[in-house]
Amino acid sequence: MTIRRLQQIIRSVATSDGAGVSLRRSLGQSQAARVDPFLMLDEFSSDDPDDYIAGFPPHPHRGFETVTYMLDGHMLHEDHLGNRGDLLPGGAQWMTAGRGIIHSEMPQQESGRMRGFQLWINLPAAEKMKPAHYRDIRPDEIPQAVLPGGGEARVIAGRIVVEGREVAGPVQGLATEAVYIDVRLPADGSFSQPLPEGHSAFVYAYEGNLDIGPGDDSRRLAAQDAGVLAAGESVQIRAGDGPAGFLLLAARPLREPMVQYGPFVMNSREEIEQAIADYRENRLV
Ligand code: CO
Repeated sequence: MTIRRLQQIIRSVATSDGAGVSLRRSLGQSQAARVDPFLMLDEFSSDDPDDYIAGFPPHPHRGFETVTYMLDGHMLHEDHLGNRGDLLPGGAQWMTAGRGIIHSEMPQQESGRMRGFQLWINLPAAEKMKPAHYRDIRPDEIPQAVLPGGGEARVIAGRIVVEGREVAGPVQGLATEAVYIDVRLPADGSFSQPLPEGHSAFVYAYEGNLDIGPGDDSRRLAAQDAGVLAAGESVQIRAGDGPAGFLLLAARPLREPMVQYGPFVMNSREEIEQAIADYRENRLV
């Protein structure tokens, strides 16, 4: 099996979003820093409430999916459809904006650590105007597999195989066939896994350093950086001399034209102008 090499490193940059939430953005910091169909990845991680307390008050989206995954802390999600859901440590929210959603995500704590990720995944043209859909995934709905040699993997979307046993995440059947895995490794621990050959793939190291790729040709990925993987049939990732945590993300590329204007991601300028007009005239959702 061809082992995927680490092809490109996207260093995260400090920025803020929502009403002033401090975060680190790797994918999505520029048009070039993207991996079709992944548009953006933000990590928010702080013990200081000033960094997160303002939250993400109501805002719109059209044309893609947002996935929020929490490691620590507590947020409340609400949207125009009347959905309301708690985001708890180890839980996730998979929100398909489709033709339009207006939602908010607000911290439910005034102190302590808030840590998690928001990922944006593009939708194919055929699904950009489908009705909005929202799924709350409780921590206990995400299967956790103990890895041979130590460490563990939580599967949010797609599937992995651990010692001959298939572990499938709660999110399946997407057009992009997305794979979303959270892996923790002890010092010097390793993770090997086949990945669909045609999928785009990247790794985000949220803790510790990683060595990615075949043994004779591996490359170092530092904490808080995203590493884009070359084509191949499998991944091989090793922790450095300390414990490591990383997200492994893969999906079928859409290879469609893309135009983004803030929270709207469509296929043409005309569709973006339509989204802006729809939002202004309360016809987005
Ligand atoms: Co949002």
